[in-house]
Amino acid sequence: MLGLMGAMEDEVRLIREDLDEVVELDGPCELLRGRLDGTPVVLAKCGIGKVNAALAASAMVQAGATSIVFTGVAGAVAPGLGIGDVVVGDKFRQHDADDTAFGNPIGIVPGEPAFWEPDPDLSTKVLGALRALEGPRGHHVVAGTIVSGDQFIAQAEKVAWLRTTFDASAVEMEGAALAQAASHLGVPFAVVRILSDSADGDATSDFPAFLNDAARRGRDLAHALAQA
Ligand code: ADE
Repeated sequence: MLGLMGAMEDEVRLIREDLDEVVELDGPCELLRGRLDGTPVVLAKCGIGKVNAALAASAMVQAGATSIVFTGVAGAVAPGLGIGDVVVGDKFRQHDADDTAFGNPIGIVPGEPAFWEPDPDLSTKVLGALRALEGPRGHHVVAGTIVSGDQFIAQAEKVAWLRTTFDASAVEMEGAALAQAASHLGVPFAVVRILSDSADGDATSDFPAFLNDAARRGRDLAHALAQA
């Protein structure tokens, strides 16, 4: 069963509206089972941040999800990417993990790998669906490193640091936690991020202005995956 995850109301609202046969499930966050274009799905609104994403992933698997696709917004980090472009994570790192006191490089959670990778087949499927949807709209769709942390980034210097330290394409607050949880749970996952801001001094005004557009595009992807 396809699992669809978003963090915020705007990231799940339009998908929820299109679900049929909706059943509300108990869980650590809003968790719904239903059908999208006839396909059974589990939809979670996990809430913001790494812990919420990990909790939701676990609850979705318990509810029967056999794959999880996160759709949401992120800040642009790589040069050449801007608002409206799309990043599908091909590597995930937690930029706020710091075990440097014990000699580890920055971004390592002790006992965990240096980075996580998504399921290749699911990511290829997601990339294909996105290129069909977004290409004609003129947006770049790229695979790249997504870095996550419990921080909203709104500072050009921090963006430069994320770029040079992690070779990141996008920054957000859940993807690498879903990656860590999914790897422990043994469930295939993919993360899609539509860039809502450039994580710089304008980020706090760009981000809310862009959410409706991102919501529509997340819904279109969910339909394409349900119909695949
Ligand atoms: N999600 C969208 N924009 C973001 C940013 N600038 N930092 C962290 N998460 C985000």
